[in-house]
Amino acid sequence: MTQSSLNDLYQDIILEHSKNPRNSGNIENPTHIAKGNNPLCGDRLTIFLKLNAGLIEDIKFEARGCAISVASASMMSMVIRGKTVEDAAAFFSKFNQLIVGNQTEDDGLQELVALAGVREFPTRVKCATLPWHALQEALKGGSKEVRTE
Ligand code: FES
Repeated sequence: MTQSSLNDLYQDIILEHSKNPRNSGNIENPTHIAKGNNPLCGDRLTIFLKLNAGLIEDIKFEARGCAISVASASMMSMVIRGKTVEDAAAFFSKFNQLIVGNQTEDDGLQELVALAGVREFPTRVKCATLPWHALQEALKGGSKEVRTE
């Protein structure tokens, strides 16, 4: 596959997730919840989790954001659901390396590799990481709103 057709494929994946986000909505009686805010644009997102014995049994999110932040939240929810808290932290670290340019392999990130292109655009890196920062805060049991700035 050429680089430009790969970029087109990645663009399609991002658009598809932003139009039909998986796990959008909230959880009744979540065990953990956190909000993310990107002050550069005012976009916001809330993560809801149901944890049981260190396992992320359910994850949902409500977002009012750009295509990249919503697609990242959607793909993140698919990768993280059913994983342990430790696995989620490891995925966050891998995803961070992917979008700052140190990693090119899939390494379990699945469709999240489609977001690798944001590494060229620092402001878009904040869009892609917004849901992950909120997830991290939720897993810590924190209640403050996390900001990308
Ligand atoms: Fe606001 Fe992307 S432009 S999170």
